[in-house]
Amino acid sequence: MKTLVTGGAGFIGSNLVRHLLEEGHEVTVLDNLMSGYRSNLRPFPDARFIEGDIRDECAVAEALHQCEVVFHLAASVGNKRSIDHPLVDADINVMGTLRVLEAARKAGVRKIVASSSAGIFGELKTLPIREDHPIEPDTPYGSSKLCMEKECLAYAKLYDMEAVCLRYFNVYGMNQRFDAYGNVIPIFVFKMLRGEPITIFGDGEQTRDFVNVRDVVQANLKAAMAHGISGAFNTGSGTRISINRLVELLAEVSGMQPDLRYGPQRPGDVRDSLADITAARDAFGFVPSVDVSEGLREYMAWARQESLPATELERGKEGL
Ligand SMILES: NC(=O)c1ccc[n+]([C@@H]2O[C@H](COP(=O)([O-])OP(=O)(O)OC[C@H]3O[C@@H](n4cnc5c(N)ncnc54)[C@H](O)[C@@H]3O)[C@@H](O)[C@H]2O)c1
Repeated sequence: MKTLVTGGAGFIGSNLVRHLLEEGHEVTVLDNLMSGYRSNLRPFPDARFIEGDIRDECAVAEALHQCEVVFHLAASVGNKRSIDHPLVDADINVMGTLRVLEAARKAGVRKIVASSSAGIFGELKTLPIREDHPIEPDTPYGSSKLCMEKECLAYAKLYDMEAVCLRYFNVYGMNQRFDAYGNVIPIFVFKMLRGEPITIFGDGEQTRDFVNVRDVVQANLKAAMAHGISGAFNTGSGTRISINRLVELLAEVSGMQPDLRYGPQRPGDVRDSLADITAARDAFGFVPSVDVSEGLREYMAWARQESLPATELERGKEGL
């Protein structure tokens, strides 16, 4: 199958590229390296890399040539970034997605699998979170991701194209670096490896649904292969652990004792999160398989390698 991965130089995208190549698919990557790394693609010389922007009509048309499936991951990612740069967020996530959809329609693409986010739900009201949970995003990012979903699903209704939007919960795994917009697992892991204290905000009993990137890749592949399926689906592990338990597990898999501190609860932080993933299982057979201890052990090993010669940021940027 001939595929395009937008955002393929990023954390989740580069894991997807690896898997697609292993399965014998042809892969083109379109990425402007805004938050991705050329070094993420260095192990994959067989992937065609186009350094370009999804808002550039010519670049998208070139990348899409004869593609059957588009995995659309390119985005301005995260709540904090969207609050800092709301116009950039909307420009990339809303207008950029429209560019991809228009080009995909013209190129006769069969399916688009787009990366959405649990951020579209806003404040969480019931657990586990099903797809029909109230949708009230409370950041520009949540709103732009919702708009992206609606654009994809409208194209699936209007044209001969299927669209699956995957609403990721807290994804973690290999190639996830620690930057200003980092998630809790990379922040904790890289701080532990540097011997720095880690801070839990609140009592640590808040829970999250952490889903390993290998399972997210599996969801993308299964969604792409399923014929006749369009819609928006939760993509989580279907399990949750507390932040206190996360720290215990990180201590276990690393053999290190973190310097743990507690800070005041942050306003707006959700208490509990857990995805109901029944719909994705029923529609295209998504069944997560990576146990959280196993996933954290693997991630810790990768992060150790990554932090050896230089700090993770310096090393990542080295490859640019
Ligand atoms: N990591 C998570 O926990 C999580 C959770 C929910 C949703 N998502 C979604 O998953 C997708 C991948 O996220 P990630 O965590 O791998 O982040 P990432 O920042 O590593 O990947 C995003 C990629 O998109 C590229 N990109 C950004 N703007 C672009 C543009 N205008 N043109 C071309 N490329 C562009 C970046 O350079 C980067 O490589 C995103 O759509 C994100 O919204 C991620």
